[in-house]
Amino acid sequence: MTDRNGTVRVWDPLVRIGHAVLILGFAIAFVTEGEPAWLHEWAGYAVGATVATRIAWGFVGPRTARFASFVVAPAAALTYLRRLLVFRAPRHLGHSPAGGVMVVALLASLATTTISGVAYLGLSRDRGPLAPLLGAEAAALQAAADQRGERKFRRPGRWLKEIHEAAANITLLLVIAHVGGVVLASVAHRENLPRAMITGRKAAEP
Ligand code: HEM
Ligand code: HEM
Repeated sequence: MTDRNGTVRVWDPLVRIGHAVLILGFAIAFVTEGEPAWLHEWAGYAVGATVATRIAWGFVGPRTARFASFVVAPAAALTYLRRLLVFRAPRHLGHSPAGGVMVVALLASLATTTISGVAYLGLSRDRGPLAPLLGAEAAALQAAADQRGERKFRRPGRWLKEIHEAAANITLLLVIAHVGGVVLASVAHRENLPRAMITGRKAAEP
């Protein structure tokens, strides 16, 4: 519904608060790089919980938050991007086709980062929510190695650490592209998209 200032509500509170948590949580987890562990892990859990909630919200939330309203074929996103670069892309009230692809990419990349982090912790350190599952496995391998008298046994899971680090770096690249896209679309359509993500409202007419 349009209000007196001619703006309409586009982003609901869950999307906006979730977005703020993602920015803060990702920044803290990325900068801490695992140390101090409590800060890194809690920032990571906040990101993971937000991503899980946002995915569920994409099926049951209001229209502009639903995947069905903004997930399009990659070809449509490319066409939109080409037009955006020459400032000829149509304005969208909700996510643009390219914005929709970016939302999916960011959520997938954040999910991979957090899941690999929790799995690495469980397998290599026997800590965290997956520890009961993965830690027992690692402890059994350790015991077998001890019995064989292997002095240089290393707990498994280093590959998970590699995946965790790679996923975190890929997410950072996506975030840079995301912010670049937001700036470009804001200039092209002469509207302040970051402000819309804070207030939840956009002008009804361009
Ligand atoms: C958005 C979320 C996250 C980001 C961006 C992130 C990023 C990173 C980065 C960049 C590193 C350094 C990698 C390296 O030195 O090889 C790291 C290490 C680590 N992360 Fe995460 N992480 C996230 C979430 C999590 C979660 C949810 C957990 C587990 C609860 C976790 C557990 C760890 C552990 C155990 C390490 C290894 C620390 C070490 O061995 O020095 N991370 N993370
Ligand atoms: C760690 C950093 C960031 C992450 C992980 C992230 C992630 C996301 C996600 C998942 C969405 C989809 C929102 C939804 O539908 O729930 C989104 C949208 C958006 N983000 Fe970010 N974001 C980050 C940083 C930023 C920054 C720094 C800005 C401001 C320059 C920004 C501006 C926006 C805007 C304006 C939208 C809405 C786009 C549209 O109108 O289609 N984001 N972001």
